[in-house]
Formats: sequence, structure tokens, C-alpha cells
Amino acid sequence: MVSYKDLGLSNTRDMFKKAMEGKYAIPAYNFNNMEQLQAIINGCGKSKSPVIIQVSSGARKYANQTLLQYMAEGAVKMARNAGYNMPVALHLDHGDTFELAKSCIESGFSSVMIDGSHHAYEKNIELTKQVVEYAHKNDVTVEGELGVLAGIEDDVVAAKSVYTQPEQVEDFVKKTGVDSLAISIGTSHGAYKFKPAQCTKDPKTGVLVPPPLRFDILEEIEKRIPGFSIVLHGASSVMPKYVDMINQNGGKLEAAVGIPEEQLRRAATSSVCKVNIDSDGRLAVTAAIRKTFADKPAEFDPRKYLGPAREELEKLIIEKNEKVLGSANKA
Ligand code: G3H
Ligand code: 13P
Ligand code: ZN
Repeated sequence: MVSYKDLGLSNTRDMFKKAMEGKYAIPAYNFNNMEQLQAIINGCGKSKSPVIIQVSSGARKYANQTLLQYMAEGAVKMARNAGYNMPVALHLDHGDTFELAKSCIESGFSSVMIDGSHHAYEKNIELTKQVVEYAHKNDVTVEGELGVLAGIEDDVVAAKSVYTQPEQVEDFVKKTGVDSLAISIGTSHGAYKFKPAQCTKDPKTGVLVPPPLRFDILEEIEKRIPGFSIVLHGASSVMPKYVDMINQNGGKLEAAVGIPEEQLRRAATSSVCKVNIDSDGRLAVTAAIRKTFADKPAEFDPRKYLGPAREELEKLIIEKNEKVLGSANKA
């Protein structure tokens, strides 16, 4: 058993309390490899933002769970050596079983999500409660989920979204003891969050504008569990600049649409304390790699294309923290 405290990590309790009071949201960036982790730590260190580095079960398999533990420990040491003092949480994203959550807690995670949203309500409560009991014994914080996001959630595909029912949240939070709750108000995973038919076209830019998030549901939830930390998944904006860069350099992303930044800014000032971003990072990295490959076809040193990709990701992270989430200078 390795405690996250020995790795220099923090749980999310204090981060969320401050985010709620300060009306901003903590960024939760997914990573699978060294370059992404370096970009997240340096981006958040330079913008002085608290950060949640998160790992899906797929990422844990990809990176190797033993290596991952040392990567997280190394990330904190790297930050401190560079003079960055921001708190860093290591979080399991979309954990689906008690065993996985337990294994992560035992290998140094400071926070876990148990996503029982695909189960029937009672089963979701039972599973979440079981994880909370084990996690809290180790001072690890737990995120639960109510409502189903459309799109791809790890290995599970939900074709249709089911908005969170506000009448369930109080009961769920009370019965499970979770520290935060992921909700479904119109976001979804991946780069194709909306069908073009659901969107209107901005006459000036030609950019597809999706239907607004259901802030009415969020407000109803806030009334029922005032001051409770809410999490927004599927919160990438799918910036046209990266989609265009990919398509101009041999890629093929058609009608990719994300969540407009002003809606995320609005969410960040509410009780949304954690905002999950994975796809935007993937797009920034892919765009930079494709550009290098197109500009310098003779290049074959991975550092020469992964380096610029890492730089682009760091830039994106600083911009998100400063302009969208409001987490910059809050560490
Ligand atoms: O919500 C899912 C995250 O974007 C992780 O994706 O399962 O492909 O690692 P992944
Ligand atoms: P995006 O696909 O919008 O980046 O969402 C990521 C996420 O919710 C990870 O849990
Ligand atoms: Zn998610």
C-alpha cells in the first residue's frame, strides 16, 4: 500500500472548498504519457493553478500502473524543483468497479471516481457507498455520477444522454457520502458532442453553435444540495483552430463540435468545482504533430514532433486556466 501523501499529492477536499468560495473550477486534465504529464504540470505550474491529473482505466493499462505511480510522484517532484507550489491530485477517471478504485487507492491515487451512472439507481448507490467507505478510511476523496452523458465513456458507449434528475441528488449524496457529484446537463465525451443538425451556424464565422447547456437543471441541483461540489465531464471546447490545423495537414475530422468557452466560464462560477478536459488536449497534440510531419517530412526523431506537441498542450492549458476556468493564480 502506497499512500498518496507519501507521493506529495493532495486529495480534492480543500481544492473544491476554495474553488466554491472563489467561484472558479479546478481543471482535471487526462494524461496517458510523459509529454502530456509534463505539459499539464508545467502549464499549471506557470499559471499557478491547482490541478487534478486524471487517468482512465484505459490510460492505466496503456501507461502501466506501476510506472504511473512513479510518474505521478516524479511529476510532483518536478513541480517542486521548478518552484511550483500548486496542489496536485491524482484521480481515477470513470472507475467502474470497487476493485479498480481500491487498487488505485492502494497505488497512490488521492481521489477516485466511481461511475455507477449506467447502473440502476439503487445499484449505483450501493457501489458508490462501498467505494466511499474504503476511500474515506484512507482520506481519499470520491466522485460519483448521476445521469448519463451521451458519447463514449471509456469502454461504455451511451448513445443517448439522460439528464441528471435533480430530485435524486440529495438522496444520492446523503446515502453514498460522496465528496463530489458528476452531472449530465448536455455535455458529452469526445470531439463530436453534437450532430450538425442540432446546431446553428454563426453567420460571420461559419462555426457550428451547439444548443446551450441545461443551466436550469444545474440551478435546480444547486438548490437541493447547496454548496456541494459539482463536476462537469465532457467539457472540451473542440477549438476550430485545432480541427482546422488537423484537417489542413492530412487529418479528417468532420463536423467536430464542443462546448463554447463562455458556457464553461459560466459553469465555473457556479458550484461546478471540477471541469474534465481530455479531447482538447488530444486535438492540440495531434494538430501540432500533423503540422510538424507536413512541414518537415524528413524528420524522424520523436523529440522533434513530440516536443512541439508538448509545447502546444502547455499553451492550451495556460489559456484554459486563465481564460475559461479562472483557476490561474489560485494555487
Ligand atoms: O471520459 C473519458 C476520458 O476522455 C478518457 O478516455 O478511456 O480513451 O482514456 P479513454
Ligand atoms: P472531453 O472528451 O470533452 O474532453 O471530456 C473528458 C472527460 O470527461 C474525462 O472524464
Ligand atoms: Zn468523463
